[in-house]
Amino acid sequence: MGTTRLDKVRADFLTDLEQAGDDAEAVEKVRIKFAGRRSGLLLDLTAALRELPKEEKRDYGRALNELKTLINTKLAEVKVQANAATVATEPSSVDVTLPGTPVPRGAQHPVHIVRRRIEEIFLRMGYDVEAGPEAEDDWHNFEALNIPPDHPARDDQDTFYLPGGFLLRTHTSPVQARVMESRKPPIRIIVPGRVYRRDSDLRHSPMFHQIEGLLVDEGITFGNLKATLETFLHALFSDDVEVRLRPGYFPFTEPSAEVDISCIFCDRKGCGVCSGSGWIEILGSGMVDPRVFEAVGVDSERYTGFAFGLGLDRIAMLVYGIPDLRQLFAGDQRLTRQFA
Ligand code: PHE
Repeated sequence: MGTTRLDKVRADFLTDLEQAGDDAEAVEKVRIKFAGRRSGLLLDLTAALRELPKEEKRDYGRALNELKTLINTKLAEVKVQANAATVATEPSSVDVTLPGTPVPRGAQHPVHIVRRRIEEIFLRMGYDVEAGPEAEDDWHNFEALNIPPDHPARDDQDTFYLPGGFLLRTHTSPVQARVMESRKPPIRIIVPGRVYRRDSDLRHSPMFHQIEGLLVDEGITFGNLKATLETFLHALFSDDVEVRLRPGYFPFTEPSAEVDISCIFCDRKGCGVCSGSGWIEILGSGMVDPRVFEAVGVDSERYTGFAFGLGLDRIAMLVYGIPDLRQLFAGDQRLTRQFA
């Protein structure tokens, strides 16, 4: 008889709870009716245990425990669901003033920024941007550029040689030769790219970046070279920098000139960056040697031209005050993030 009553209470509970749905107040009423501490039906049912004849007590007790567990579990479940629903819908529970989750943003590498700036300056002057292979052959890297077999630049102390007669290009100048072989003047190009030398210290990395420039046409003079470099360096740094040409030597240019700018940090007074000299060496340049023209099949009686080459990394170090060249290639985001 006792357990029949338990069955009825169990059925009533399930119906009431179902009807309450996700109405929190109705659920609370169900809880009070069945599991309330002072007057809940479970209390009555527990009290009834005492009145039962001995032989019924065991079955009834076990069924009562099951019912208690069922009621408490169900009520707990509904409560968890209700809480979740409240958090999701109640506007005041979302603090819109909390900072959001930041989306990581990329940044351009300083060498890339400098390269783009230089490209833009030369594109405005009518130059095209060219590229060539990093694994180069001996002819384009050395021979066509009038660098004889016994030239110190060919020493394997300086050059990474690859199997099969190839090497990692030691400068961007081989692209001069490639372009002149494949195209008739007028030629006006700049060539940014990676180059390789066996060197590693504060100012050298085995891989670094250069930009090559080449202009070939009829009647090109050293004056055109000087004017072009001044225009370029003024646009890159500022109109106030002074540009100085010093005699230099490169096997593929004659005459050749090293180009300095007045120190952008001390304005020629002398400081740590310019080693007290007031000048910073910035590029190598010269008039294309007629022997180079002959090697690549350009008529050296009809055409003249100039070429120049500069290190992009050195310029990025100067412009951004980066003390160690190798930091540029360490891949440390603490450096690159500063350029976002
Ligand atoms: N290729 C030279 C170097 O790597 C630079 C240069 C380029 C000099 C073009 C003159 C003309 O040092």
